Amino acid sequence: MSAGGRRRAAIRGGLVFAGIAGVVAVKRRASRRRDVAGDGSPASGGWATCSAPSARAYEATFGWLLRDLYRRMADDLAAAVAGIAEPAVLEVGPGPGGLAVELARRHPGLRLTGVDVDPAMVARARSRAARDGVADRVAFEVGDVAALPFPDGTFDLVASSFSAHHWPDGAAGFAEIRRVLRPGGRAIVFDLPDRWGRFETKAPPLADAATAGGFAAAPATAFRWPGRVALVRRLEVARDPDTPLRGGSPGT
Ligand SMILES: C[S@@+](CC[C@H](N)C(=O)[O-])C[C@H]1O[C@@H](n2cnc3c(N)ncnc32)[C@H](O)[C@@H]1O
Repeated sequence: MSAGGRRRAAIRGGLVFAGIAGVVAVKRRASRRRDVAGDGSPASGGWATCSAPSARAYEATFGWLLRDLYRRMADDLAAAVAGIAEPAVLEVGPGPGGLAVELARRHPGLRLTGVDVDPAMVARARSRAARDGVADRVAFEVGDVAALPFPDGTFDLVASSFSAHHWPDGAAGFAEIRRVLRPGGRAIVFDLPDRWGRFETKAPPLADAATAGGFAAAPATAFRWPGRVALVRRLEVARDPDTPLRGGSPGT
């Protein structure tokens, strides 16, 4: 092997090693901080509830990296409520609000409420909605998916992206989502592959958590991104078993 080839191989090896070390460090920190109060209550903010050290760091990196993905997810979600003039949408764990504003832009009658356990994320999402001119239809508040602050049957659609594997009790989260759905309503949840959720936070498979929360069994399907790679899973579940699921989406 030439000197140049050896140098390139060394750099590649170093990057792979640094990547693995980084992921292991993140995972260890996340599991240490998951119950900082020691009483079973979830910590909120940073590695404990999102895959970054802070809301600011998350928005700076993932807001840019995932911009195209948010657009594709928003197309998919907007299609799910296209037939409703003024759909009420809940987004669980909206983080800094990138998906929420993309969705609001696609449906002029849509009203969205985002509930996030991290107050710093809620503050960022509110600023983002104001900056993007949708704050009259898009609101955010602090709350936990396991105790949603809404009456039964409030929403036509519940959406979530990359949040479910952070919920300490996935079944309780899905039970609450089902409770706040209107008759005929559905939930569409995007998340990382189950293997990653198990690795990062010991989360159960997405579809199992939904079933444990009272939804009829439905498989999580591949949502192809980036390109043909399926880094994302999409789970669609309906409040009532007779509601037809859309299944196919622009990304599946
Ligand atoms: C990895 S970030 C994803 C943010 C955004 N949805 C996105 O796709 O970029 C996970 C988000 O879920 C929120 N979250 C985690 N656990 C939650 C819970 N139990 N209830 C509500 N939100 C939660 C976190 O605060 C964070 O904003």
